[in-house]
Amino acid sequence: MRTFVLFGGKGGVGKTTVSAAYAHECATAGLETLLVSTDPAHSTSDVFDQEFDDDPSLVDGYDSLSVMEIDPDEAVDEHLMEIRRAMGDQVSASLVNEIDRQIELAHRTPGAHEAALFDRFIEVMRNADEYDRVVFDTSPTGGTLRLLSLPEYLGGWIGRLVEKRERSVDLYEKAALGDREPRRSRIGDPIIARLRERKENFEFAGETLREDATFYLVMNPDELSLRETRRSVESLRERGLGVEGLVMNRLTPEPEDHEEGRGARFLRERVATERERVATVRGEFDPPLVATIRTRVSEVKGDLLRSVADDLAIEVTAEQP
Ligand SMILES: Nc1ncnc2c1ncn2[C@@H]1O[C@H](COP(=O)(O)OP(=O)(O)OP(=O)(O)O)[C@@H](O)[C@H]1O
Ligand SMILES: [Mg+2]
Repeated sequence: MRTFVLFGGKGGVGKTTVSAAYAHECATAGLETLLVSTDPAHSTSDVFDQEFDDDPSLVDGYDSLSVMEIDPDEAVDEHLMEIRRAMGDQVSASLVNEIDRQIELAHRTPGAHEAALFDRFIEVMRNADEYDRVVFDTSPTGGTLRLLSLPEYLGGWIGRLVEKRERSVDLYEKAALGDREPRRSRIGDPIIARLRERKENFEFAGETLREDATFYLVMNPDELSLRETRRSVESLRERGLGVEGLVMNRLTPEPEDHEEGRGARFLRERVATERERVATVRGEFDPPLVATIRTRVSEVKGDLLRSVADDLAIEVTAEQP
């Protein structure tokens, strides 16, 4: 098993529930475990009936399970503040207002949350030394994954920029009299330094996700969820990231044979439909179905979380595969 385990899937399929159940399993097996949630609804707090924030804190009743909740809005704010600071250093005061307006706009673009969250993901991955396992509730989506191919593009671009800088530094030196030091050198260039840093961050993320992360997708037994899952498996694969397994959540429990009446008939029909979906997944999907989880009578927390964890059956080991 790798250090980072990511659970993805469409809204509401049970990512938070399954991530929490898996983190519970890891911690119970003695692994120092961190569960990272990015849910603005703070549903991890509901699962454990405890408030969490941006700093990892130990879950009551556990000695090796910590949770941190990344607030996507805060992440976006920090991200934009960082850009604002960086730009402010580089441009004239008159441009700063214009930049502020652009940044406000960028704040509201659909990709801003994803990009900011991804930056926080990378930070967490960089500082995960003290944990045996880090479980991410929500894996990067198509848009974020595209960022992973950025280093290649940035690589060429930075290369060309550096060449230009070097040439102008050369010219400057030739034109300069005596042995005066050139004022600009590509080594100290703050813009290039920033681009390099960004490129390295994405390189690190790509490498870590490919070499030290395992992806699982959570799904429900309905057509929409099957389609969505197929697409996610594809888009992850396009980025060189394999899905280790699928988790089917919210299967309808079957009534006993002797039970009759409308309710029992309804349940039987549902169960039959869901069986077909499960068969489709087993027969046509590449990643194996590693767990099937029944629908519980109420929200999953407390004892129900332990019972879902028993259904989960994803092997928990500390070794690399
Ligand atoms: N097997 C189950 N039985 C009963 N309730 C469940 C089950 N799985 C999930 N739920 C409940 O369904 C709701 C949604 O589940 P969950 O929060 O895990 O989904 P999610 O994929 O994380 O959603 P979101 O996309 O909003 O983050 C929760 O109230 C959860 O307790
Ligand atoms: Mg969730």
